[in-house]
Amino acid sequence: MTAANVDASNQEFLRYDQVEKRHTYRLAENPTDEYDEDYRIEVFDFAPYLNGSPADQARFAEDFAGAVQDIGFSIITNHGVDTALYAELEDQVEELFTTTSLDDKMRFRAERYGSVSQGYFPIRETSDIHPDLVEGWVWCRRAFDLPQARQAPFRVEDFWPDARWEPVFRRLALAHEPLFKPITRAMFQGLGIDPHLYDRKLTETNFGLRLNYYPPLDRGADESGAGRLLGHEDVDLFTILPAPRVEGLQVWNHRSNKWVRLKAPPGSIIINTGDYMQRITNDRLPSTTHRVGKPEDGSHLRTARVSFPMAVYVWEDEVLEVLPGLGEPRYEPVKAITFHTRSTSKFYGDDYAVERPVEP
Ligand SMILES: [Fe+2]
Repeated sequence: MTAANVDASNQEFLRYDQVEKRHTYRLAENPTDEYDEDYRIEVFDFAPYLNGSPADQARFAEDFAGAVQDIGFSIITNHGVDTALYAELEDQVEELFTTTSLDDKMRFRAERYGSVSQGYFPIRETSDIHPDLVEGWVWCRRAFDLPQARQAPFRVEDFWPDARWEPVFRRLALAHEPLFKPITRAMFQGLGIDPHLYDRKLTETNFGLRLNYYPPLDRGADESGAGRLLGHEDVDLFTILPAPRVEGLQVWNHRSNKWVRLKAPPGSIIINTGDYMQRITNDRLPSTTHRVGKPEDGSHLRTARVSFPMAVYVWEDEVLEVLPGLGEPRYEPVKAITFHTRSTSKFYGDDYAVERPVEP
């Protein structure tokens, strides 16, 4: 299935993109890559937006949207989530991956549920295009015992290798869900448009919680040229990523054409905008390329890395349309499922797209 090309560039896959991406980058780390040591991803105190006066909120929104507009990434502190939960989950994620048998994992091998490729991704099989040195597991809203319009009764055994895990990770989903609207409103307000345009779409909306387990690398894997996670852009509105304990996240700076090593304070949340947001904001908020490389201190030879990003989506039958007030639309309205599956067929194969573009 896999092309296993560690030297591939994003240009080979541009036909899948449903928003404009002009830059060229190599998907995995390479000794010739350059790093931008001067750029700092901005850190914001979110409390003035959550609890402040209208003037505090307006000031925050302008600064926050400005930072996101600049590079597609920002970091927030005082977000209201108990940071002890993050510390606890770092250990729980490692336990899930290291104590579940491969047979049990493979019973939940990822397949498409609506837009989302949900389930277990074996090491080197996160995508069809690149042999990344990560195991992953994705659950969307349907996999949790949460309020939602369901077609079938929720059955924990349909999604989880052991029923005890569902309430563990449901806590994370419940902790993050109250952030969906404030983050979106702050971005919209900072762009000068109605902050509430997505309130309905974001009520009990879909999401994808992804657990990543990057095992320690042996010498062979270390020298193979493969990376921890290939360069990519997220196909979502935005991603909520609690700062991982182990470094490695790198962000493409389109001005310097160099990679920025992202350093986020413990307990903070990294927010980055994805393809949905770039599309509806008419390219104002970019979907920025990022990847996971090896830590500078070489600790990947002995230490695992864990992360748990949560991608915020709209449901499949919603329409993604350029928001009013952002100029002449550069994109046609498109159904979320069409947009999402066309974009992610880059990773999962052409058959993944529910509706393919008309061939020329
Ligand atoms: Fe990502």
